[in-house]
Amino acid sequence: MERPTNDEIVCKTADNTEALGENFSKFVAADSSIALIGDLGAGKTTFVKGLARGFGIGENINSPSFDILRIYRGDVTLLHVDAYRLDGSESAANALLLEDFLVHPHCLVVEWPERLPNFLQTCDFRIFFAVDGHCRKITLEAMRKP
Ligand SMILES: Nc1ncnc2c1ncn2[C@@H]1O[C@H](COP(=O)(O)OP(=O)(O)OP(=O)(O)O)[C@@H](O)[C@H]1O
Ligand SMILES: [Mg+2]
Repeated sequence: MERPTNDEIVCKTADNTEALGENFSKFVAADSSIALIGDLGAGKTTFVKGLARGFGIGENINSPSFDILRIYRGDVTLLHVDAYRLDGSESAANALLLEDFLVHPHCLVVEWPERLPNFLQTCDFRIFFAVDGHCRKITLEAMRKP
């Protein structure tokens, strides 16, 4: 997916990327959904670690190796989806029963959103991650809702 031409935020370390996620959590309205777009190792899960911290979640956020969906409870319920292993079909997405877990207040954050049908069109934010050596160039895009 082509990156927007918005200003990019340069994070020089993983800690910086995590801090960006933590700060971003303060701007996210309740029940928002966020698509994280970028290659393997681009820093998506690192950003989610910061988001979780911002939501008062004490648990460590891992890159789920087998789980596609993980749920963390804090001030906000964080639903962390890693869609990498989904095949992009409606049936695979429906099997997650995502809607059943969308309690208020929540934040739904999806890595590899390209593999979750319609998500890129319906989410509230798209965040793009590009690797440049140790730096990650991160671009935030707020989506306009109809
Ligand atoms: N500036 C940086 N920001 C984020 N991560 C960085 C940075 N510099 C180095 N890293 C390292 O890059 C890796 C990023 O891994 P992370 O799991 O966040 O990527 P990911 O985009 O979730 O990958 P995947 O698609 O495999 O889930 C980590 O090992 C992290 O320590
Ligand atoms: Mg990841």
